[in-house]
Amino acid sequence: MVVTACLLKEKKKKNTYPGMYKFLTELFLAASSHVPGMDSTRGFSLTKILLVALLMLLCAMAQASGQTLDPYYYGGTCPMAESIVREVMQVEVARDPLVAAQLLRLHFHDCFVLGCDASVLLDDGGGVVSEKGAVANAGSLRGFDVIDRAKALLEVACPLTVSCADVIAIAARDAVLLVSFLAGLIQLLMILGFGDFVEDIEARRFTMFCYRGGPNWEVHLGRRDSLKASLSEANQMIPAPNFTLQMLIPNFESHGLNIIDLVALSGSHTMGRARCLSFRSRIYGQQVDEQPPDYYRRETVFRRILRSICPTSGRDAALIPLDTQTPAWFDNRYFHNLLRGEGLLESDDALVSEDDDGAVRRLVHAYAADPELFFRDFVRSIVKMGSIGVLTGDQGEVRRNCRRPNYAQPGR
Ligand code: HEM
Repeated sequence: MVVTACLLKEKKKKNTYPGMYKFLTELFLAASSHVPGMDSTRGFSLTKILLVALLMLLCAMAQASGQTLDPYYYGGTCPMAESIVREVMQVEVARDPLVAAQLLRLHFHDCFVLGCDASVLLDDGGGVVSEKGAVANAGSLRGFDVIDRAKALLEVACPLTVSCADVIAIAARDAVLLVSFLAGLIQLLMILGFGDFVEDIEARRFTMFCYRGGPNWEVHLGRRDSLKASLSEANQMIPAPNFTLQMLIPNFESHGLNIIDLVALSGSHTMGRARCLSFRSRIYGQQVDEQPPDYYRRETVFRRILRSICPTSGRDAALIPLDTQTPAWFDNRYFHNLLRGEGLLESDDALVSEDDDGAVRRLVHAYAADPELFFRDFVRSIVKMGSIGVLTGDQGEVRRNCRRPNYAQPGR
């Protein structure tokens, strides 16, 4: 029975893994031919029967523990899940281009605290102390309402099926893919010297959009939502902007991520903005003077510009693009900036200024030279990040409302 169930489940996904499905089916048929009372049409060795038994066991174990994520997880239960999220993202990004970066960051802050389980979305109440109050999140992490909108539509289309953790992961992928055409236009106009006109347009946030050149990937799905949040873990596990390389590397390692993941994922800072509060110590801190003269000069100019926007105190919430050259594009310009001494956060700058043995700096050079390599590694790393500590199978739950566990939903 277990085998049949396993095969049936495989059959549902046979377009995904045709080879595996065929192999399992053949083995099953061959094994059946040796069961007394079943039609014997083929010869079969004992070794193969044992192999079949082993495969059945592995398949049953994988399904019981539900440990694997699967890009086609909702194929049978909510096939339109990804398109619903995509449509919400298109509308939201068109309405406010800043949403894209917010959603990508939300996925990161979800995965680094208790795993990718949507704990970051929980509000205070019902025994939950929200992670939204953590130092890295308060007054800075946004995009919760976008997830709410997508989830509300999903609850109409397929109630209690698609987890909030999966919605975040899909939205993060769409965030990288989607770009505001307006943002591109603004950039072009700025290059042409129409700065004032551009700001005016931005304020009005015209709603035009199209696909940008960010990488695409298959989101692996099947995460379940947590029943709890952890404010203390959020304060401990999300890296701070003043982290040195010696702090960043072990922090990422504690999540199963290596230096390639650290550098590739830091490339997310090709989009979005940071508050003055987050980079003040970088622009008023000690400048390392044994740098090549060119680098030193550029960094000095960069600091001077930033100081004019961000004084030693006050204006904490003033926003600056993390990638000052191409803020509206998901590209490898961020790595060029790092090499020019124009990484906005200390943690960005640390990737080039603190790397004594050179491995991290070599990656920065490689990504600056080869955007395709950056995209490939980024995709690999974000899929890896998306599987940190996931709840699957019968762990956790699928929340009805992403802001509360089901036991704390009104009316229960
Ligand atoms: C390497 C360690 C990292 C540190 C120390 C860090 C820190 C920060 C800080 C301080 C901000 C600005 C927040 C603010 O001032 O309001 C920021 C923004 C951002 N971060 Fe990171 N980050 C890191 C890695 C990542 C990763 C791995 C991702 C994604 C996978 C990511 C995605 C983003 C995005 C997209 C923004 C812009 C958000 C927006 O515009 O609303 N960051 N990050």
